[in-house]
Amino acid sequence: NKRIQIAIDGPAAAGKSTVAKKVADVLSYIYIDTGAMYRALTYKALKKDIDLHDGAALGMLLDETTIKLVPSENGQKVLVNGEDVTEEIRYQNVTNHVSLVSQHGEVREEMVKRQREMATEGGVVMDGRDIGTHVLPNAEVKIFLKASVEERALRRYKEQKQKGIETPLDQLKEEIATRDKLDSEREISPLIKAEDAFEIDTTSMSIEDVVNLILKKVKERS
Ligand code: C5P
Repeated sequence: NKRIQIAIDGPAAAGKSTVAKKVADVLSYIYIDTGAMYRALTYKALKKDIDLHDGAALGMLLDETTIKLVPSENGQKVLVNGEDVTEEIRYQNVTNHVSLVSQHGEVREEMVKRQREMATEGGVVMDGRDIGTHVLPNAEVKIFLKASVEERALRRYKEQKQKGIETPLDQLKEEIATRDKLDSEREISPLIKAEDAFEIDTTSMSIEDVVNLILKKVKERS
C-alpha cells in the first residue's frame, strides 16, 4: 500500500486531533499536530513578553526555537528547545493568544516550511487550518471537519471537566467563536475548506464513525 498524505482541517475544537490520532494509529502513520506548533511558539512568546502584534520579532523568536512533536502513550509530547510543554500549551492564556501569533507571515512561512519537511516521506496525518489548502496541496486525502459551535463548546466543556477544570459553557462558546473568526478572516492562508476536501459534519456523529469514514476515503485513494 502506498503511504499517502492525509490533511485534516477545520475550526477549533471540531475533534480534529482526536480523530487524526486514531486514523494515524490504525494506519501506523505519523501524526502531526500543526496547531501544537503555533501554540508552542505562542507559549514561548508570552513567556518572553514579546509583543504578539510584532511579526518580525515573532519570526526571529521562531528562528531560535526548535519544536519537536514526539509520539507518546497518550498521543504526542511537545518539546520546545527540549522543554516539555505538552500541558502548558493547552492553557487558556495560550489558547486565547495563539490566533494573534499565527496571523503573521513571518511565522506562517517558517512553520509551513517545517511542516512540509515532516511530510515529505508520506505516511502522515496532519491536522490544522491550512493543510489541505496550503501546506500539502497535493495530499491524496483531504478532510474538512466541522460541527456546530454549541457542540464543540460542549465537547470542550466535558473534556476540561474531566481534567478538573470548570469553565462556564458560555465562555467556552465565546472563545471558540472568537478564534474561528480570527482564523477565518486573517489575510494569510485563512481557515477555509479546500475545494477538493471531503466535508464531514461531526455534530451528531461518534468519533468511531468519523474515523471509519476517513479510513474509507483513505482506502479509495491508496
Ligand atoms: O488546532 P489548534 O486549535 O490547537 O490550533 C491552535 C491555533 O493555531 C489555531 O486557532 C490557529 O490560530 C493556529 N493554527 C493555524 N494553522 C494551522 C494550525 C493551527 O493558524 N495549520
